[in-house]
Amino acid sequence: MTNLKIKEILDTPSLLGQEIEVKGWIRTRRGNKNVQFIALNDGSTIMNLQIVVDLESFSEEELKQFTTGASMWAKGILVESMGKGQSCELQAKEIGLFGAADAENYPLQKKGHTMEFLREKAHLRPRTNTFGAILRVRSHLAFAIHKFFNERGFVYLNTPLITASDCEGAGAMFQVTTLDMENPPRTEDGKIDYSKDFFGKPASLTVSGQLEGELGATALGAIYTFGPTFRAENSNTPRHLSEFWMIEPEVSFLDIEGNMDLAEDFLKYCISYALENDRDDIEWLSQMYDKELIDRLNFILNNKFVRLTYTEGIEILEKSGHKFEFPVFWGADLQSEHERFLVEEYFKKPVILTGYPKEIKAFYMKQNDDGKTVRAMDVLFPKIGEIIGGSEREENLEKLSQRIEELGIPMKDMWWYLDTRRYGTVPHSGFGLGFERLVLFVTGMTNIRDVIPFPRTPGNAEF
Ligand code: 4AD
Ligand code: MG
Repeated sequence: MTNLKIKEILDTPSLLGQEIEVKGWIRTRRGNKNVQFIALNDGSTIMNLQIVVDLESFSEEELKQFTTGASMWAKGILVESMGKGQSCELQAKEIGLFGAADAENYPLQKKGHTMEFLREKAHLRPRTNTFGAILRVRSHLAFAIHKFFNERGFVYLNTPLITASDCEGAGAMFQVTTLDMENPPRTEDGKIDYSKDFFGKPASLTVSGQLEGELGATALGAIYTFGPTFRAENSNTPRHLSEFWMIEPEVSFLDIEGNMDLAEDFLKYCISYALENDRDDIEWLSQMYDKELIDRLNFILNNKFVRLTYTEGIEILEKSGHKFEFPVFWGADLQSEHERFLVEEYFKKPVILTGYPKEIKAFYMKQNDDGKTVRAMDVLFPKIGEIIGGSEREENLEKLSQRIEELGIPMKDMWWYLDTRRYGTVPHSGFGLGFERLVLFVTGMTNIRDVIPFPRTPGNAEF
């Protein structure tokens, strides 16, 4: 007697004729007075195993609670299937119920729910085919990311989630405090007295692990982080989450060119890994939601990303004659509509934009000699827009301090960061990949809320 996952069963032809046991959740039950067919899923694959229940051995009464959503086990012989849609099926000898799922009330009783409906049932939606597939793709991508960096000798560095610094300088941070919000301690001039707070000063959830990542890279050579990041911006778009996962490699002795090569190799590696190792799920998602998905993934693998400067990008947009909602001019922050025009309409290839105006980018980016632009790079993808943001870092202590001062960042909070430039500074670069944006791209979904198990967005933290 073996207790196997359905994926293994379907992948192992030598099991035919053997007695096995399976456990899972019922997707559907149908049939007639003589025989009933249960489609069983255990989460290991998008495929179901068909359990054939002969009504000579089991009564209809016994089967009453074997309804959609119920959990059960079955023992029997695995045989070749005569029916369409499956290679083998289990001829049940014994079956048992773990837990019923009251057909009247089970929210996923019927098929074909909208994504909006399922978002409200986020606690149960992993039970659907769609979310099973998405979550397996997500898991494979996470593994691919670790594999990619591990094969290249990067050290996996864990950076803190609670921090006192604002890496991106956008100020959109969630505060962390144990002070009594109703009655906080006050200083003599009436301000909240953070010296009495848990950390002795104001603290927040991190927006990025980069600054600590740089501490790691300037000691270990090449590191990457992979963890949750938090942004309190009130952007209700299909591409923004308040809590998302970011992967941030940081590499010493790497310039912007090398950084672009790394980003391109990395994205191609992850996509190709998912296609090779989770083909069934991607094919299923493609069939159900997006017929062009696999072509689009292959297209990324087969094309070199176009590299051009922000200035060239702006020229193309200005000359395009295309009507944009947001105005285009040198110095403007690019909106998703601009990014997607370059990628989807103009080049029809992924694009890496570099040399952005320093005013619209973070303080740590390496300044170009023109005094106007910085060595930033954004990787832009079809359907997504920005998937990666990164840069070469300013390694010159003087230039960096000056920029920090210009931007009014409290210098006293940055002493530890500046020590990397004070002692043994090196040229270095890095970037951040928004994990959910990658999962969005690989699954072909259109809303980022559908590629993370429990999305956090403004006004939504129920499950
Ligand atoms: O461009 P961002 O803000 O860059 C940084 O945080 C740098 N510190 C990264 C680095 O150089 N180490 O964010 C990086 C990526 C974006 O390109 C995007 O894919 C994703 O993170 N991202 C978000 N994903 C989901 N929801 C949000 N609110 C996001 N904000 C950024
Ligand atoms: Mg960015």
